[in-house]
Amino acid sequence: MPKEKTVFICRQCGNEYPKWTGKCLSCGAWNSLEETSPIAVSTAASAPAKKLSYSRVTEVPEDSEIRYSTGVSELDRVLGGGLVKGSLVLIGGDPGIGKSTLLLQICGNMGREHTVLYVSGEESERQLSLRARRLGVNAENLFISSCNSCESIIRAVREEKPEAVVIDSIQTITSSAINSSAGSIVQVRECTGAFMRLAKSEEIPIFIVSHVNKDGGIAGPKIMEHIVDTVLYFEGDKQLSYRILRAVKNRFGSTNEIGVFSMDDDGLKQVENPSEMMLSGRLKNISGSTVLCAVEGTRPILAEVQALASKSGFSNPRRVTAGFDLNRLFMLTAVLEKRLGFAMSGLDIYVNIVGGLRVDEPAADLAVAAALYSGVTGKPIPEDTVMFGEVGLGGELRAVSRVRERVREAERLGFGTVILPKNGSQALKREECGIKLIAVSTLADAVKQLSV
Ligand SMILES: Nc1ncnc2c1ncn2[C@@H]1O[C@H](COP(=O)(O)OP(=O)(O)O)[C@@H](O)[C@H]1O
Ligand SMILES: [Mg+2]
Ligand SMILES: [Zn+2]
Repeated sequence: MPKEKTVFICRQCGNEYPKWTGKCLSCGAWNSLEETSPIAVSTAASAPAKKLSYSRVTEVPEDSEIRYSTGVSELDRVLGGGLVKGSLVLIGGDPGIGKSTLLLQICGNMGREHTVLYVSGEESERQLSLRARRLGVNAENLFISSCNSCESIIRAVREEKPEAVVIDSIQTITSSAINSSAGSIVQVRECTGAFMRLAKSEEIPIFIVSHVNKDGGIAGPKIMEHIVDTVLYFEGDKQLSYRILRAVKNRFGSTNEIGVFSMDDDGLKQVENPSEMMLSGRLKNISGSTVLCAVEGTRPILAEVQALASKSGFSNPRRVTAGFDLNRLFMLTAVLEKRLGFAMSGLDIYVNIVGGLRVDEPAADLAVAAALYSGVTGKPIPEDTVMFGEVGLGGELRAVSRVRERVREAERLGFGTVILPKNGSQALKREECGIKLIAVSTLADAVKQLSV
C-alpha cells in the first residue's frame, strides 16, 4: 500500500507545504511546521449540500446587529460599541497576561442580566470559583464548567441556550472528529470553525481565549484570525501593572481603538486616564527623553519616549526599539545624519516607548527624532514639552491628523509647550491659548527650538 501523503502546516501563519522545511517561507518562523494528514485538513468539503437560502437585501430586518454591553466600557469601545450577538471574538495574549481574569470579570457583569457559560479547559470548577470569589464575581446567572471536549460544549450550548459563552482556552479543547492532540493546528482550526458555526446558528456571542507563543511551540491565533469575527490582543509588560487591549481585526467596528487596564490583586480595572498612567514615574531633567502624543483610535495618549545612544563596540552598531517600528528608526537616523549632519553610524541606539504602549503612527517621528538628538548631544529637552509630527525624508515635518485633540490632551495634563508641524496647525493658533504652540516646518527647526 502506498504511504499516505501528508502535508505540513505552519503553526504561526497556517501556510501549507508539501515538504518539510526548517523555516516557513511565508512568515519566516523557524521550526514551525507541523505534519498533518490531508484528510484532516479538508474538513467539510465532502458533506452533503444543503439548499442555499437567501433574502432580498432590503428585507433583512434592521435589528440584525444587536449589541450587549460587557459592563467594561473600555472593552465595549474596543469591540466597536459592545459585544455583537452571534459574533466570535478571539482574545489572544501571553500566558499570565490576564485573559482569564478579564473574561471572568466580564462574565460577572453580563451574568447579572444574561445567562453566561464559562468553560475552562485549564482550571477545575473549584479553581474557577476560587478565582471568581477573589475577583468579587458572584452573578446568579453565571455558570462555570471544566471541560475539554468541543462536542460536549456545543451540545451543552444547544441544549441549555446560554446567552453568552467563554471558552478558555482553545489550546485545551479537542474535537473527537480529529485524530490529533490538543493545541495542534488541525484541532485549533477545527474547533474554532465549530464554535464559529455555533455562534452563528445559536446567535450568541462567544469569546475564545488563545495563548500566544513567540517560539511557535503552540498553534497560535494567527491561524484563527481569518476564521473569527473579531481579534483582540491583550498586551503589556507582565512586570508592570498596566495592560492594553487592542483590536487587530473587527468585522463590527474600527481596529484602531485600544482599551487600557491596570492589573491589581482584585482583578483588572479600567484606566480612564491613560496619559497620566504612561507618564507616571518619569525622571526629570535627563537627556534622551521627551513626550509624544499618539492617537489611538479616537483617543490621544501621551507617552514618554526614551532614546539612548552609546559608542558601539560592534562593526554593525545595534539598533533596538521597544514599542516603535525598527525600520522607522532607521529612517529617522538616516534623516538626522543626512539633513542635520548628525554622525550616528558609530553609535548603538536604543529607543523605548515607556509604559508598554506600541506606537505605529508616523506622528511619533518628531518625538523619537528629538529624543535621539537629545540622547546624542546629552542636552535634556524641557520637561514640560510635548511634540508630534511626521518626519519626511527631506527632513520636513508633515501634517498629522487630530491636531486639536492632541494639543488639548497636552494642555489637560498641564504641559506648557507643544512643538508641532506648521502645516495643519494654522487654524489652531488663534483659539488655543492655555498652552504655548511652536509650529515648525522642518526637523532642523524643531531641534533648534530645543537648543535655546
Ligand atoms: N490566585 C491569585 N492571586 C493573586 N493573583 C493572581 C492569582 N491568579 C492569577 N493572578 C494574577 O493574575 C494574572 C493574570 O492571570 P490570568 O488571568 O490567569 O492570565 P491568563 O489567563 O492570560 O493566562 C497573573 O499573572 C497573576 O499575576
Ligand atoms: Mg488563563
Ligand atoms: Zn509561517
